[in-house]
Amino acid sequence: MSKKTYIIANWKMQLTNKEAADLANSLKHESIKTLKQNIELILCPSFAALSAVAEAIKKSEIKLGAQNVFYHEKGAYTGETSPSQLKELGVDYVIIGHSERRQYQKETNEEINQKIKVCLANDLTPILCVGETFEERQIGKTDLILIQQITKALQDVKLNNNQNLIIAYEPVWVIGSGQAVEPKEAQHASAVIRGLLPEFFSHEIIKNNISIIYGGSVDESNVMDFIKPGVIDGALVGGASLKAEKFLSLIRAVETE
Ligand code: PGA
Repeated sequence: MSKKTYIIANWKMQLTNKEAADLANSLKHESIKTLKQNIELILCPSFAALSAVAEAIKKSEIKLGAQNVFYHEKGAYTGETSPSQLKELGVDYVIIGHSERRQYQKETNEEINQKIKVCLANDLTPILCVGETFEERQIGKTDLILIQQITKALQDVKLNNNQNLIIAYEPVWVIGSGQAVEPKEAQHASAVIRGLLPEFFSHEIIKNNISIIYGGSVDESNVMDFIKPGVIDGALVGGASLKAEKFLSLIRAVETE
């Protein structure tokens, strides 16, 4: 059985709750007719809009994702949201370690590691984001950064046959820039990441349960330059997922391949 192709919309903090629900509704109406079985379409609105989006995509194949989670189950953690609270809302996926959180919330690799573990313990699939900054790239440290981020994030992480992990390579400097990296650079990053996985997981788990995707200025015109089954199994999409027509063109571009 071939693996799914993931199309993941990261709406960041870009939409009002109503705009998020309306967008989810439009996507549901259109994609219900067309969404191919092997495509997993995941919408990640901000926390405040999760319920409204969950309601909008009810009875469709579209899945719900969150943009973050806290690493404790319960307790005096003002402002945080637990994995089981997300699960209760119908969330199946969680973006973890997005570069914007690493930058603005100072999220560390150690916290990211805990968040991955807590997701897996709660039947949530982590979407782990890794990638180098422009400065790191300039001094030739891209591979090193990927190695550090992956080895710290995956320390003592265990996956069973029923659990999945998605790793998104997102070069920080192209996010939101309108200019993606060359597909061969994304393929190189995928190979570096893949090369690290046997340290943590069995061959079977790597083959069946782990997917590597690309994110950073993906749109309908370039998405298929990146997707290559077994190498890059999907895209994490920010700006190009915020308008129904544009995002649907991207989905259709993936479907027609
Ligand atoms: P972008 O964002 O598609 O707007 O570059 C991607 C992301 O940050 O996940």
